[in-house]
Amino acid sequence: MPIKKTDLERWLIKLKRIEEKVERLALLSQLSQILNSTLDQKEIRRRAMEAATRLMKAEVGSLLLIDEEKQQLYFVVALGDREEDIKTIPLNFGEGIAGWVAQQGKPLIVNSPEKDPRFFKGVDERTEFKTRNIICVPVKVKEKTIGVLEAINKQKKGKFNKEDLFLLTSLADQVAIALDNSRLYQELEEMFFQTADSLADAIEQRDPYTGGHTQRVTSYSQAIAKYLQLGPLERKWLKITSVLHDIGKIGIEDQILRKPERLSPEEFSMIKRHSNIGAKIIEHIRQLKEIIPGVKHHHEQVDGKGYPDGLRGEEIPILAKIVAVADTYDAMTTNRPYRKAMEKDAAVEELKRCSGTQLDKDVVQAFIQAYQRGEI
Ligand SMILES: [Fe+2]
Repeated sequence: MPIKKTDLERWLIKLKRIEEKVERLALLSQLSQILNSTLDQKEIRRRAMEAATRLMKAEVGSLLLIDEEKQQLYFVVALGDREEDIKTIPLNFGEGIAGWVAQQGKPLIVNSPEKDPRFFKGVDERTEFKTRNIICVPVKVKEKTIGVLEAINKQKKGKFNKEDLFLLTSLADQVAIALDNSRLYQELEEMFFQTADSLADAIEQRDPYTGGHTQRVTSYSQAIAKYLQLGPLERKWLKITSVLHDIGKIGIEDQILRKPERLSPEEFSMIKRHSNIGAKIIEHIRQLKEIIPGVKHHHEQVDGKGYPDGLRGEEIPILAKIVAVADTYDAMTTNRPYRKAMEKDAAVEELKRCSGTQLDKDVVQAFIQAYQRGEI
C-alpha cells in the first residue's frame, strides 16, 4: 500500500525533530566535557556562560552566584556585548526571576517577563537590554543552591520550552560538579600551602637570624617570575620551591645552624648538605617531584662553582636560578650576627656584579626590573 504524502511529511518532520534532539544532546555532552576539563574557577564560570548561551540558542547567558553573607546574587560574568554593564549589578535574594529561582531552588521559564510580577526591570533599565524571555535554573551542590544559570532571549524570536529546561538543568548539574571539584581542589591546595608554610616556619624557628626569610624569598621569586614570562603552572611550582627550598636544614645540627660566628670550612661543608637532604625529603612526595630540581640546585652557580653538583649555566634548572637570586638578595639585606645588613641599592649592585658568574644574567635582569618598579 503506498504511503500517503501527508504521512511521509509528518514522518520527515518527526525525524527532523529527533535529529535536532540528538544534536542538542551531543552538544550538551560536548559542553559538559569542556566544562569539566579545567579546575580554574574563573574559567569554569566563563565556560558555563558560553555553554548556556550556545545550548539555549540565546542572545545572552549568565551565571549568578549566591553571596550567603550579603544575601545577594551577583553576576559573575555575562556574555555578549553588554558584559561590562551586567556583571557589576547585584540582585537581592528573592528579587527578580533569578532571585526567585535561587530562593525556591526551582527552575523557571518566563516567556512574557513584563507580565510576570517576579520580573525585576532594574537590570534591563540599567543596561538598556530588553528581556523578551528568560529561562533560569538553580545550580545545586548536594541539594544546596549555590547559584543560578540563565539564558535570555531565544534567538530568531523563539520561545523557551520544556526541552530547553531539561537541557539547561542537565548543564547546571555539570556546572555544579565542576565548581565543586574546583573548590575542593583549591581547598586541598590551600591546605598544602599552609602545611608547607608551617614546615618552613618550623625550620626558621631553629635559626633565629633568618626570621621571615622563606616568606621574603617566596615573594621576591614571584616578583622575578613576572618578568621572565613564566606560565601559571611554573609559577605555582616556583612558589612551592621557594617555600621549601631550605627544608633540608631540618637535617643540620643545631650547633651549626645556630652558630652566631662565621662557620669553619668543615661546618660550612655540613651546611652545604642541606640542598641534597631537602631533595631527598621531597622525593617521598610523588606530587612534588617537579620541585626537586629547584630545591636540590638552589646553591649552584652559573660558573660551575656552586653546590651540590657544580652545574653550569643552562644545566641549572630555571626555578633554582630564580630562588638563588632571591635567596642571595635576602641574605645580603638582612642582619647577621657577624655583619650588618647591606643597603638595598648596594645589594642590587652586588647582584649585578655577580650576574653571569654566580647568578644567571636573565634572572638578575628580571629582579632589577621588579626592583625598579617597586615590587621588591
Ligand atoms: Fe639554602
